[in-house]
Amino acid sequence: MRWTELLDVLTNSDRKREVLLERATETERMALFLLRREGWSAQISPKDLKEYDIELSRPGMKAVVQVRNQRAKVHLGQVEKFLDFLAHPNPKNHTEGLFISTSGFTPSVYAYLREEKITNLKLAIMREHRLIFDCESVDRAAEREKTTYIGVFTCKGGVGKTTISAHLAGAFALNGYDVGLIDLDHQQNLRKILGEGVYLPSTKGSLGSVISVLTKDEWDEGDYQDTKIVICDCNPEFDANPKEYIRKFDYCIIPTTLNPLGINKNADVIKRTLASIRRENQTAELFVLINSLQTDEPNRNNLLNQALQTQFKQMRETDARLHYINPLECAIRFSKQLLYWGFHLFDGSRPQLAFKTVGRYSYPRMDFLKLADFLEMQAELPRAQTALAA
Ligand SMILES: Nc1ncnc2c1ncn2[C@@H]1O[C@H](COP(=O)(O)OP(=O)(O)O)[C@@H](O)[C@H]1O
Ligand SMILES: [Mg+2]
Repeated sequence: MRWTELLDVLTNSDRKREVLLERATETERMALFLLRREGWSAQISPKDLKEYDIELSRPGMKAVVQVRNQRAKVHLGQVEKFLDFLAHPNPKNHTEGLFISTSGFTPSVYAYLREEKITNLKLAIMREHRLIFDCESVDRAAEREKTTYIGVFTCKGGVGKTTISAHLAGAFALNGYDVGLIDLDHQQNLRKILGEGVYLPSTKGSLGSVISVLTKDEWDEGDYQDTKIVICDCNPEFDANPKEYIRKFDYCIIPTTLNPLGINKNADVIKRTLASIRRENQTAELFVLINSLQTDEPNRNNLLNQALQTQFKQMRETDARLHYINPLECAIRFSKQLLYWGFHLFDGSRPQLAFKTVGRYSYPRMDFLKLADFLEMQAELPRAQTALAA
């Protein structure tokens, strides 16, 4: 069917909605058409509502639809915004949603909805004039050929390196990857907390994932052929980290916190950290990440964030691979789960990650799945640019 014909079908069915329809994108019109074919009464959302694109109804049921036509897969940050909208009071009391993507969804999106047992949001892929619901099985992430090395490093203790290494490993494991977690810190905190490692069972029928905690001498790519993600919890003393690891990093995460006394001091520490890494590795993507973010202080955070970000402005002008992650997009929030992570050492329970749902949500699970997405998107950028240039 051609677009003009499609439009005829739609506008004939309701002349009054023509104006709304004219404003809709082609993707939205296609979605509208397909949803009506599925038996929904559907219309394009009023102009002033940006949170969704289509309103759906059936007797006794209503929902809103977000439609995305983009090159990259829809990532968890985008889905989170829609979930937030559905979770909070909104003008028409919408609580049910459908997210339609033409390019699919990242593994973090599926993992989050599955682990958090979200039932008020459905996903669909729109492809070749069809809506595919239950789309996870057709939306496989591309196989990783090369092992990705991620370092977590700051020349300072107590900023969350070990916490972040372990839970980022957890996020990749939830996304279906086996992960090697290398303990480069002489304190060997990972070994103490996780022992030899953890196994995350899969709830989607396939085998689960393994996080293996290893020392620098135990890790060998040949012995762990299926392990394509390696995360290193680094020693805060730069020179204590083996150079061969630093040189392998594809990404390096530099955690820091957003507090007044810390900012001047930490910015210096981070600048030194960045310079040290760059001496050994000129190609790694470096990410400054805010840890222990307090979300109920938006005004103070905003000021502090600007102050901290300014500190790296000069460095970023000469280093395109240095990224300051805007905490509004992605940060690790302060949470009790992370504060008390490792408590099993005291109460004798079995080692696990701090991904338990408390109340309605698990902050750490959302934050680390988003971080995994963030890093993966960074990896896709150069590839997409090469493809564009070709
Ligand atoms: N996002 C967070 N929310 C709450 N507590 C945190 C968070 N991140 C780290 N912590 C706490 O801070 C302490 C130090 O973190 P750790 O990962 O050991 O830092 P490092 O490895 O850099 O020394 C840990 O005991 C942990 O409980
Ligand atoms: Mg540590």
